[in-house]
Amino acid sequence: MSRKLKYSIFRYNPVDPDSKPGMQEFFLQETENLNLFVALNILREVQDPSIQFDFCCRAGICGACGMVINGRPGLACRTKTADLPDQVSLLPLPGFRLVGDLSVDTGSWFRAMNEKIRSWVHTDKEFDPQEQEVCMDNRVAEKIYELDRCIECGCCIAACATAQMRVDFLGAVAMNRIARFMIDPRDKRGHKDYFEVVGTDQGIFGCMGLLGCQDVCPKNIPLQDQLAYVRRKMGWQALRRLMPGQA
Ligand code: SF4
Ligand code: SF4
Ligand code: FES
Repeated sequence: MSRKLKYSIFRYNPVDPDSKPGMQEFFLQETENLNLFVALNILREVQDPSIQFDFCCRAGICGACGMVINGRPGLACRTKTADLPDQVSLLPLPGFRLVGDLSVDTGSWFRAMNEKIRSWVHTDKEFDPQEQEVCMDNRVAEKIYELDRCIECGCCIAACATAQMRVDFLGAVAMNRIARFMIDPRDKRGHKDYFEVVGTDQGIFGCMGLLGCQDVCPKNIPLQDQLAYVRRKMGWQALRRLMPGQA
């Protein structure tokens, strides 16, 4: 006997002056292997075409379907209803501009963050199409690949108390990006250069280390390790500046 699930969905359209924020209830019979992404699509198709939420890939790759599911940030397309209780509450990710209902504008946030941390490989080398490919040590390439798996879903920002308290906090996702460039031998920036970017309260020194970010990351990126790595390197830089010649 399948369950009838109750969905409490946050509804608010910020561009409609008559819209008031609140939760709206929907009921849907659970089917085998149902996930939240499909459930939301059925609700929108069959019960209310005005529900707003985002999706693109349906496979945990695009990062668009992040939302707060029963109090925990996660991806709708990777959440099976079988793993949820009979009542499911859905809220938009906090920390991002609300577009409407469950849809938030993560794109503008990530673009600004990537610009602030200058999120690209810095090299003076000119591209020469005739030149032979330069091989990278496999262990380094694998490490970079592991950190590059971030899908910019925003779940770590939504789970981060610091990011909720201060809008300029760059978050674990930015520290993960910085760690990725620090270990990339093609990037010619030194620790001094990185210090200018994340050696602040906006960056690594604003992190309280409670690791809500790591708990919710749907790609299981080792954020704890990257935060510790960047903190260690930037800590040394801070010491050098405070005590030149001694650290
Ligand atoms: S460990 Fe740092 S980045 Fe992660 S959730 Fe806590 S304050 Fe945010
Ligand atoms: S680090 Fe994880 S939780 Fe944060 S944006 Fe990337 S994939 Fe999402
Ligand atoms: S729809 Fe792309 S990650 Fe969920």
